[in-house]
Amino acid sequence: MKAEAVPLLDLRRQYDEIRDEVLAAVTRVCDSQGFILGPEVEALECEIAQLTGAAAAVGCASGTEALWLALVAAGVKPGDSVITTAFSFFASASAIVRAGATPVLMDVDPGTLNLDAELVRRRIREGRPENLSAILPVHLYGQCADMDAFGEIGEEFKLAIVEDAAQAIGAAWRGRGAGSMGATAAFSFYPTKNLSAFGDAGIVTTNDREFAERMKRLRNHGSPRRYYHEEFGWNGRMDAIQAAVLRVKLRHIHDWNEARRRNAALYDRLFSESGLLETTGDSPVRLLAREPNARHVFHQYVIRARRRDELRKFLADRKIATEIYYPLPLHLQPVFAYLGLKEGDLPVAEQAAKEVLALPMFPELREDEIRRVVDAIAEFYS
Ligand SMILES: Cc1ncc(COP(=O)(O)O)c(C=O)c1O
Repeated sequence: MKAEAVPLLDLRRQYDEIRDEVLAAVTRVCDSQGFILGPEVEALECEIAQLTGAAAAVGCASGTEALWLALVAAGVKPGDSVITTAFSFFASASAIVRAGATPVLMDVDPGTLNLDAELVRRRIREGRPENLSAILPVHLYGQCADMDAFGEIGEEFKLAIVEDAAQAIGAAWRGRGAGSMGATAAFSFYPTKNLSAFGDAGIVTTNDREFAERMKRLRNHGSPRRYYHEEFGWNGRMDAIQAAVLRVKLRHIHDWNEARRRNAALYDRLFSESGLLETTGDSPVRLLAREPNARHVFHQYVIRARRRDELRKFLADRKIATEIYYPLPLHLQPVFAYLGLKEGDLPVAEQAAKEVLALPMFPELREDEIRRVVDAIAEFYS
């Protein structure tokens, strides 16, 4: 018998579990004929604020939009510069450009691949980038960046900390929820995320109610009331169907994140039993570091693999899906050539881009599937 495919993510299994609840919620919105913002979005905003521990949340059209709102509300203005990681999704840096500022792309910690706080501290001490107003750490793969260090750096140098929490709903640092630690924080509900909409959607969280009020205006053409405009915003609104779907899924997010954590623990155990991690020096597989202060929600389960591209093909031939997040660091993207960075400037991110491989990870992933993945990787290196 041929082995079944192991998908990277299978949303259908989640949908089967919640189909009736979700369809009832969508029907509720259709029956109301209210499609933009409104009571579903307001209810979601309260529920997300509660989950993250932030004082307020502002629903919007996408995680990218959320990042722009988060930066502008935190005070980033045209001509500023903002430090962020070179090893993230494009939007982490492009949102800075959209706010009129210049991204200062920096290298990552070799263990976690999150923005390296010590490098950031040194860089600011030794030559503060011109008009630096904020730092945007990304909670990569669902594990919080070092928020103790970024909190200290923010205070010492009077900088706003804006969390890119797109991949980290339900994550925490020393018990504080992702989204509650910075001046503002952006989440994505893109369909592949841990908490996902039936389309594009995002949300910003903040502890500052004035920031929240401003973001509500900015997402709606800078308008405090209909047809009166105080500043230039945009159409960045969330629609009610997305909010209704998200509210159903929110009831399950704790259990789903726990299931991801169990799946990750099983991968960890099987890798350590496989002997693939044993060799000192040039071990074929390396796991990313787990911060003891972080509650990791495993948006992705990522390994670093020797001969990564060959391994990926070997797994694909066995119908095991994998992905590379991210194959080209941001400072080497053609669109960021104007920043003047070149290959060799951010060596840790560049090396990671050559080695990282995301394995199948979602709450409903079965034990036999995880075993198949690790067995296949062991076979490749045997
Ligand atoms: C780290 C990070 N930042 C920002 C985004 C942008 O979110 P969206 O795709 O919802 O615009 C994503 C997700 O795609 C992301 O992974």
